[in-house]
Amino acid sequence: MSARSVLYALALIVGSSYVTYTIVSSYPENNTPKKKKNVADLIGNTPMVRIASLSEHTGCEIYAKLEMANPGGSAKDRVALSVIRHFERIGELVPGRGDVLFEGTSGSTGISFAMLCNALGYTAHICLPDDTSNEKLQLLESYGAEIEKVKPASIVDPNQYVNAARKGALQLKNDKTTASNGVFADQFENDNNWRAHYAATGPEIWEQMSHDIDYFVTGSGTGGTIAGCSRFFRTVSNKIRVVLADPQGSGMYNRVKYGVMYDSVEKEGTRRRHQVDTIIEGIGLNRVTHNFLQGEHCIDDAVRVTDEQAVRMARFLSSNDGLFVGSSSSINAVAAVKIAKTAKKGSKIVIIACDSGTRHLSKFWKHALDVNRNITLEEVLH
Ligand SMILES: Cc1ncc(COP(=O)(O)O)c(C=O)c1O
Repeated sequence: MSARSVLYALALIVGSSYVTYTIVSSYPENNTPKKKKNVADLIGNTPMVRIASLSEHTGCEIYAKLEMANPGGSAKDRVALSVIRHFERIGELVPGRGDVLFEGTSGSTGISFAMLCNALGYTAHICLPDDTSNEKLQLLESYGAEIEKVKPASIVDPNQYVNAARKGALQLKNDKTTASNGVFADQFENDNNWRAHYAATGPEIWEQMSHDIDYFVTGSGTGGTIAGCSRFFRTVSNKIRVVLADPQGSGMYNRVKYGVMYDSVEKEGTRRRHQVDTIIEGIGLNRVTHNFLQGEHCIDDAVRVTDEQAVRMARFLSSNDGLFVGSSSSINAVAAVKIAKTAKKGSKIVIIACDSGTRHLSKFWKHALDVNRNITLEEVLH
């Protein structure tokens, strides 16, 4: 063997052991999650990530709690599990008896229930508005959930999707020809919703941020996340400011700022949809829910975000940080930047990233694709 090929062989050996060493030494032995017995045990303990682009542009430290990392793809897994466990404790749900869980939901919660019902021995029956995005419908179908589509309507309408779910559960409960029971999950009014976030989401954020948070920013759909987290934060710190991020067309912003549930579209009568006049899914409402009320006293401020700002922010985060988020996460990110503009430099701001952009490809992300991928943060906020 020539001296040259000996040198080459040596270089190969050293090189490959370096690669092996790098892989082995970077393997997070102590943090490797233990094996779990089913999908329910995979819920929670979601990652926290710094959003580098927003942090560097604003001089604040902006972090996202990646709830999309739950096995069903959103924060709603926590709520669905909490609700099911409650029904099991009181004997209303028994695995293998043919019990059916009914819920009225425009998507995420239904997917979490569909997943968990399959894993835990129940059937999920989901009532939803007939304009729900295709990818959510397809996911529900893939899980094999029973799907009931209804026309978008006001909550006072008996055929509104939440009321349709309540009616279905009652019918099965009262049906004497079967041993199967029907339960109505009722995520808007169910106490086990905010309690799931009080017990786990809030404490996880607190630990992940090493007990150092200045602002917590999220939207409100049922109100469970903001109520549960903010109530927990009040037990550990009086410095954290909780800020509601609200989409256009929602009355929550005025409720937090001025104590009145009102949006100008109500006066003008120009709504595109019955509930809230926005393309954002999952947040924004024009009524006060039980879950929101449980934490309302802990909410300090509100920021309003337009659909256009949210669409542009989604594109910005994807292009600059590789973060592919859904519409409500994008609203939260815009609100965080607005807060950072007046906050003390270096302030720590945490947002909830409730779900991924994959849930929103056919609606919200269709608009986001039209945005120039080199858009600046100033243009996002314009
Ligand atoms: C995508 C998405 N983001 C945010 C929320 C709001 O969470 P909460 O219901 O806890 O207020 C929801 C609620 O359904 C949602 O589906």
